[in-house]
Amino acid sequence: MSFIKRPLLLTVLVITIGGFLFGYSTAVIAGAMLFIKEQFSLDPVSQGLAVSVVLLGALGASSLGGILVDRYGRKISLLFSANFFIIGALISAGAANPDMFMLGRFITGLGVGLVSVTAPTYLSEIAPTSLRGGFVTFYQLAITLGILIAYLMNFVFVEEKGWRWMVGLAAVPAVLQLLLSPALCESPRWFLGKGCDEKAHQVMQRLGLKGELADAHRVIASASWSILHRRGMRLVLFIGLAISFFQQVTGINAVIYYAPQIFEFVGLSSAESAVLATIGVGSINVLATILAVWLLDRAGRKILLLIGLSGMTLSLGCIALAFVFYSSSAALISMIGLMAYVAFFAMSLGPITWVLISEIYPLAIRGKAVALAVLVNWLFNYLVALTFLDIVDRIGAGAVFGLFAALSIIAFLFVWRFVPETKGKSLAQIEAMIRRG
Ligand code: BGC
Repeated sequence: MSFIKRPLLLTVLVITIGGFLFGYSTAVIAGAMLFIKEQFSLDPVSQGLAVSVVLLGALGASSLGGILVDRYGRKISLLFSANFFIIGALISAGAANPDMFMLGRFITGLGVGLVSVTAPTYLSEIAPTSLRGGFVTFYQLAITLGILIAYLMNFVFVEEKGWRWMVGLAAVPAVLQLLLSPALCESPRWFLGKGCDEKAHQVMQRLGLKGELADAHRVIASASWSILHRRGMRLVLFIGLAISFFQQVTGINAVIYYAPQIFEFVGLSSAESAVLATIGVGSINVLATILAVWLLDRAGRKILLLIGLSGMTLSLGCIALAFVFYSSSAALISMIGLMAYVAFFAMSLGPITWVLISEIYPLAIRGKAVALAVLVNWLFNYLVALTFLDIVDRIGAGAVFGLFAALSIIAFLFVWRFVPETKGKSLAQIEAMIRRG
């Protein structure tokens, strides 16, 4: 790591604060909802809306984010997202009525959507080739830390029913990100794409990316969506969209957003123990992601995905069986299964989705293609979050987890057949590989 220059380190740090905000803002609702529904006397439909409105905002912003990221640059987009986080946190924390709360959460969602288009692209473009997987995984690590801190804040403020603190505190890291933003270097590859070679050179030098410089030049940056007519390009677009889809439909956010309820299904009766078990989930999520940071550029993306998906399938299968044949030992099995499932997700599909979508697209369409993949991600995130409890009600938790297991098997087959190994290849080499079909 000694060859990482300070400006590069600072840029990575400021970008990853965005990941933290993403994780915190989406997960904090788990505990805050307990009190918000009381305060505003929300019926179940409005409760569902209050949880998912942030995801709607994210959907909206990811559809427009690609244009912003490509046209005005990665840095401006990141700063926009920080502003959305601040305004959203303040409006929802100070909300005098449900509508105002929903508005605040929607604005927060705009920040989440924009950051999820910007941060992975930005990170993969400033990373030295040999560390690219690790850099983008830092972003996932920041998401998981955000989730964990949100769960902890839920716990800290639970006694005083301090939901305003829980949602409002998101403004703090966002302000910090704005304060540190002068340290951000714009992506040199974005400069190259805009024909500003001189600036690209300067930034690459500043970031210490000498080896990457010549390589980046080999990429033809003037094409557009017409590039999709070339061999291999449609397939590559499809791979990014599919991996984004699988990241959500294999059930991660059923666990992240509804962990306390799931722990109640398996027999943890007090709210306090359910929240504590949830903190356990958050911690395992962080620890397994740290393992992924270390493994990604060593073992490779594909093998980790295959191992992770196998583990996810097995643990989901155990949870499903435990729910079907319910007994006191089944409760224990399903809790261990849930923890194992989160660990396998965190070392594979969690980070690698972001790594792959940020590196497999050609520079010419990167911003927009990443935005499309992120849009798919938020769409299915939204659908799972909105329907999970209802479907559990209709067909039972066992069947739902069985379905997630079946989808994990399909994801495994998909990765095995279609996903290319990109470890150790520069972005330009990946692009050349794809252009060759
Ligand atoms: C996913 C989120 C999920 C988080 C869990 C991210 O990669 O995109 O939807 O909540 O991982 O750690």
